[in-house]
Amino acid sequence: MSERIVTMISKEEIAKRVQELGAEISDHYRSNPPVLVCVLKGSFVFAADLARAIDTSVRIDFLGMRSYGEGTESSGVVQITQDLSRPIAGEDVLIVEDIVDTGLTIAHLIDLFRTRAPRSVKVCALLHKPARAKVQVKVDYLGFTIEDRFVVGYGLDFAEKYRNLPYIGVVERS
Ligand code: XMP
Ligand code: MG
Repeated sequence: MSERIVTMISKEEIAKRVQELGAEISDHYRSNPPVLVCVLKGSFVFAADLARAIDTSVRIDFLGMRSYGEGTESSGVVQITQDLSRPIAGEDVLIVEDIVDTGLTIAHLIDLFRTRAPRSVKVCALLHKPARAKVQVKVDYLGFTIEDRFVVGYGLDFAEKYRNLPYIGVVERS
């Protein structure tokens, strides 16, 4: 069986949207520099581009998370593999996620961070699949709403492959 990737969102479309998100975020946080929390591994490409599209001071931290299983279904059971390097008490936290699917991961993260007394917690996600929502989460800054297809590229993987594709695509098997 062979796999091929069909482009869903081109690198030019992503670049344009990331610039727009960066401008919105810069305006909102102009007088209060946020902490960008890059959720590893999937968000590493998006967070790197987004950070450079923000023209106000930011701090950047990383949170390692793993959903159990290597399939294409999120189990909703998540494990923290690497915690933040510094406390977030009193900080304005902006979680940078690759994709909000069922919403379980982001809901779990927001609950976890709230126990650490930040001043605010907001979410920026590149992609959102509303068709699969199991819990309602507010995505404050959203790149694209997509249909219910498993996507790869621009940080997103299928069994650890395709993270380095510069665009978002769908895996097709034949
Ligand atoms: P939930 O369902 O908790 O899922 O909102 C969030 C996490 O699940 C992974 N995920 C995907 N990964 N292509 C991927 O490569 C997809 O289409 C996809 N949908 C969900 C991802 O790690 C995300 O953070
Ligand atoms: Mg992820």
